[in-house]
Amino acid sequence: MKSALTIISISAILSWTTPAFAAGDAAAGKQTFSTKCAGCHGVAGEGKDTLAKMLKVEMRPLGSKEVQSQSDADLKKVILEGRGKMKAVAGIDAKTGDDVVTYLRTLKQ
Ligand code: HEC
Repeated sequence: MKSALTIISISAILSWTTPAFAAGDAAAGKQTFSTKCAGCHGVAGEGKDTLAKMLKVEMRPLGSKEVQSQSDADLKKVILEGRGKMKAVAGIDAKTGDDVVTYLRTLKQ
């Protein structure tokens, strides 16, 4: 009985301490970001004023609190399905999406 409890508490600690990052590869994500996202969002995700004005939207910096407070699943959904004036980005599968989300987390300000 005691050992079962030990196992339960160890797994509880492990799941609690696992970082809340998407299980992706940040370096691969950066690569994808620079080819598929930076054209609109800027190399550091800062957003492009000219594009924002043209589309009449606010492009929040991807490192901002407003963006970073969204879940990994939400950010991945924006990439794979689009949101508002942003269309789904072509040629990105689920794994690549995870990589890009992991990279987005490195932009946190
Ligand atoms: C053709 C230009 C374009 C490309 C390419 C593009 N985006 Fe966007 N993205 C936008 C615009 C414009 C918005 C704002 C949409 C709105 O609010 O209507 C946006 C919004 C977002 C948001 C939501 C930000 C918020 O304020 O909540 C995220 C996250 C995002 N983009 C990530 C990405 C990633 C990652 C890629 C590459 C895989 C990418 N985008 C490619 C134009 C683009």
